[in-house]
Amino acid sequence: MKSIVEMYNIRKEFPGIVANDDISITLGEGEILALLGENGAGKSTLMSILFGLYKPEKGIIKINGTEVNITNPNQACDLGIGMVHQHFKLVHNFTVTQNIVLGMEPKGLFLNLKEAAEKIKELSNRYNLDVDPYSKIEDISVGMQQRVEILKMLYRDAKVLIFDEPTAVLTPQEITSLLSIMKNLINEGKSIILITHKLKEIKAVADRCTVIRRGKVIGTVNVKDSSVTEMAEMMVGRKVSFKVEKNEYKPGKEILNIKNINVMNHRNVIGLKDFSISVKEGEILGIAGVEGNGQSELVEAITGLRKIESGEIIHLGDDVKTLTIRDRFLRGISHIPEDRHKHGLVLDYSLEDNMILEVASLHPYSKRGFLKRDVIRNHAKQIIKDFDVRSGQGEITITRTMSGGNQQKAIIGREIKHNPNLLIAVQPTRGLDVGSIEYIHKRLIEQRDKGKAVILISLELDEIMDLSDRIAVLNGGNLIGVVDATKTNENDLGLMMAGINKGVEGEA
Ligand SMILES: Nc1ncnc2c1ncn2[C@@H]1O[C@H](COP(=O)(O)OP(=O)(O)OP(=O)(O)O)[C@@H](O)[C@H]1O
Ligand SMILES: [Mg+2]
Repeated sequence: MKSIVEMYNIRKEFPGIVANDDISITLGEGEILALLGENGAGKSTLMSILFGLYKPEKGIIKINGTEVNITNPNQACDLGIGMVHQHFKLVHNFTVTQNIVLGMEPKGLFLNLKEAAEKIKELSNRYNLDVDPYSKIEDISVGMQQRVEILKMLYRDAKVLIFDEPTAVLTPQEITSLLSIMKNLINEGKSIILITHKLKEIKAVADRCTVIRRGKVIGTVNVKDSSVTEMAEMMVGRKVSFKVEKNEYKPGKEILNIKNINVMNHRNVIGLKDFSISVKEGEILGIAGVEGNGQSELVEAITGLRKIESGEIIHLGDDVKTLTIRDRFLRGISHIPEDRHKHGLVLDYSLEDNMILEVASLHPYSKRGFLKRDVIRNHAKQIIKDFDVRSGQGEITITRTMSGGNQQKAIIGREIKHNPNLLIAVQPTRGLDVGSIEYIHKRLIEQRDKGKAVILISLELDEIMDLSDRIAVLNGGNLIGVVDATKTNENDLGLMMAGINKGVEGEA
C-alpha cells in the first residue's frame, strides 16, 4: 500500500513532560488508522503537529513521499490534510454555508454564497451527510454540527481526514451513522486517522491500530487479527477487566426523595413532567434515555442550577428546592458535570486551585481569609495520586494544557473527595481510556458500598446496566418506569427509551 502520511521520530516536549517521544506512524492510502492510547499518551499532540498547530523539536513528516514542513493549519489544508477537533470550532449564529466558507480566499471579487451552498449540498448528498446548507448552527444537533466539520474538510478537498475523539460527544445512533460515513469517505478515496478510546469502534472500522503509551509507540496491529482485549492490554500495559464487581445490594435510609417535580427546559417548555423518585444510601440509580429526554433538567433541578415549577426535592428530610447551588453542595450534594469546560473547571487556573473551587473559603483551605497553600497543595497531590491524574507539572499545571481525559479524572476526584452523601455523575467516563473507565467504575461502586447514594446518568447502556442497582428510564420528559438492573436487558430498556412501557414493575 502506498503511504500518504509518514511521520518519523517525532519528539515534542511540554514543560515537565515529553508528550511525543520518538513517535513514528504511517497512514496508507485508503485506510483507516486508529490511534489508541491512555489519557495523556500524546495522541492529540501528535495530530496537532501533523495539522501544523505545534512544531515538533525533532522528526520528519512526509506527504505522498515528499518531506514537508507544516507550520500552520492553512499549509496543512493546502497539503490536503483536514482535522475535526474534539471541541468544534463553528460560529453559532452563522449558517452552515457561512461556516464552511469562513476563512477561505474568495475566488474572484466576492464569494458567491449561493454557489457555495450548491457545492455543499452536492457534497452532502455524495457522502450521505444529510446537512442543509442554509440551517443555522445553533438550530442543529451536535451530530449534524460534526458533519458540518466534515463538510468543511471535504469542501477544501482534504485527502487525509483526522478525527480526534469524534464519537465522545455523539449519541449511540449518531455514532453508528458516523462510522458508516467514514466507510463512505474511504470508498471515495479518502484516508483517515481516527483517535478513539472505544475499542468497539476500532474493531468496526479501522484497518490498523497504532498504540501509544506515555508518549511512545508500543506497536501497531492489524485490527482484524487482534482482539479488543489484546489492544486494551497493549495500551495500559496490564490486564483490563471489563466486568464490574460489586457487593450485594443493601440499600439503607432514604437520601433523596423527589416528589412530582415539573421542570422547564431551556426553551421554556416542560422538560421533566411530574417526576418522582427516591434514592437511598448504598445504591446506584441509573438514569437511561436518549439524550435530551429530561436528564439535564433532572440534574439541574437537584443541584439547583434550574428552578422547579412545582413539586418537592427532599434531601435528608428537608425540602431544598429554594436553596442555592452552594447550599445544596454544602449539604453533601456533589455533581460531576456533563460539560467539563463550562461547569467543571476554570481552564486558566492551576489544577490545585481547581480542586478547591467550591470550598476555597472554608476550613481547612482558608484561615481568617487567607488561603492555606500547603493544605491546598496536599489536597491536590492526593487527588492526583488517587485518581492517576497525569499532567506536565503536577498540581501547578494550568488545566487548559491537560489532556481531555485527565481534566475529567481531576473533576471526578475533586467531587468524590468532597465526601458527598449524594453523588450525581453525568457521563462520568466520557473521553476516558479503558483503564481509567475501569478505575472510575470501581470508585463509583466504592461510593455505593460506603453507603452513599449515587445517581448515574449516561448514554452508554452498558455502563448503566453494569453499575446500577435500579434503572429509571426517561422518554419525552416522562418517567417511563423503574426497573431492577439485574432483571432487565438491553432490549427492554431500548423499548422503554422509545416510550414503550413493557412489563415493568412499579418503583422498586
Ligand atoms: N499546550 C500544552 N502545554 C503543556 N502541556 C501540554 C499541552 N498540550 C498537551 N500537553 C501535555 O502533553 C501530554 C499529552 O497530551 P495529549 O493532549 O496529546 O494527550 P491525549 O493522548 O490526546 O490524551 P486524551 O486521551 O486524554 O485526550 C499531556 O500530559 C498534556 O498535559
Ligand atoms: Mg486528546
